[in-house]
Amino acid sequence: MAYIVYLEEAYPPRQARRRSFGGRAGVKPWAPRKPVPRRRESFRSRFGSLFKPPSHRRSERRASSNGSSSRAPLPGYELVKKLNTGGMSEAVTLVKKQGKLYITKRVRADGNRRQTTMSELKVLQLIKRSSSNNLNKLHDFQWDPRGLFCTFVLEYCHSGSLTGKIERYERARSSVPEEFAWNVLGGIAKALAFLHEGIGDPLHEKAAARWNSTWHLDLKPCNIFLSSHGQRGPYPRVVLGDFGCAVSEKDIDDGLAHPRRQRCGTEEWYPPEGLESVVGSHVRYGSATDVWQMGATIHVMCRLLRGPRRSQLDSVSPCGSHYSETLNSTVRQCVKNYRIRWTAAEVARQVHEVAKKKGYRM
Ligand SMILES: Nc1ncnc2c1ncn2[C@@H]1O[C@H](COP(=O)(O)OP(=O)(O)OP(=O)(O)O)[C@@H](O)[C@H]1O
Ligand SMILES: [Mg+2]
Repeated sequence: MAYIVYLEEAYPPRQARRRSFGGRAGVKPWAPRKPVPRRRESFRSRFGSLFKPPSHRRSERRASSNGSSSRAPLPGYELVKKLNTGGMSEAVTLVKKQGKLYITKRVRADGNRRQTTMSELKVLQLIKRSSSNNLNKLHDFQWDPRGLFCTFVLEYCHSGSLTGKIERYERARSSVPEEFAWNVLGGIAKALAFLHEGIGDPLHEKAAARWNSTWHLDLKPCNIFLSSHGQRGPYPRVVLGDFGCAVSEKDIDDGLAHPRRQRCGTEEWYPPEGLESVVGSHVRYGSATDVWQMGATIHVMCRLLRGPRRSQLDSVSPCGSHYSETLNSTVRQCVKNYRIRWTAAEVARQVHEVAKKKGYRM
């Protein structure tokens, strides 16, 4: 079984060389990181390939001004309704174009938000090229005329988020069916296998050579969406979204993200090795963070909670005794010590085995 190796192994004492990242061959050797340039590089020179020159046409300026008006957030799209935001984005709206619904998400790109927005855009562009149907796809994006905001146009997931689903089961005083829990676990695991290792099909593919491993780092029910479009069995297709906290290995190598301390996320959802209260300054993050958050999501969903309960999560039965031992043990593999935690591809393969045995269609 391949184990996830965190960046602490990858970040030896200064000036030392790391052999390879995460024990994988073909990854460029560690070298002292380039210092982040003090000089203010122009936005365009730094992110030229992603930057669309601002338009100074008055119509576009008006359309992309502040998000508080009732106008559509982007020209060519009709506003359907505004949605409440969770804090990471400025405005989230439901829009329509040629009869099709989309989500627009307006994020700040000024000051210290520029880097996170650029990372989000890079991840969304990577996902757009993938064949995965478990990742929220970018349809379009547009910068405001001064490059202070970026608006992403994303696939709209008609069945809402997993938070809404959990709340509905809670209100009905019923529990999530085990098959649905496997469906969610399988969908997230496949999405992560692509982001972490470039694996499109965990059953037949190995990790892609020279893959720039990318981590979501804010995985929780409100960032997991459900859609009946492309659904295979009785349960909706699971779509991982909201890449506002994502970081890649290259971001760290380029000195754009801290090697040990994640730049954003929800502390309640940090694994033990990411919590200062547990490991002090030896905190770390990476692909194992996402796998822990995936396990914690299944625990929260099966127990109909608002957030993870660590004592239950670390028990023999993180999902509760009315779920199978196989589901409970798979979640335990996701939340155990990061050195021996399963990878997302291993979880995806386990889900496939269970689905085959039980005749689940997902
Ligand atoms: N692709 C999508 N399809 C359907 N609904 C979406 C989509 N993306 C976002 N939403 C909805 O838009 C709203 C705002 O999302 P946003 O990410 O700002 O908040 P959040 O996920 O609740 O919190 P956080 O900032 O902690 O991630 C949420 O209700 C979310 O469910
Ligand atoms: Mg969100």
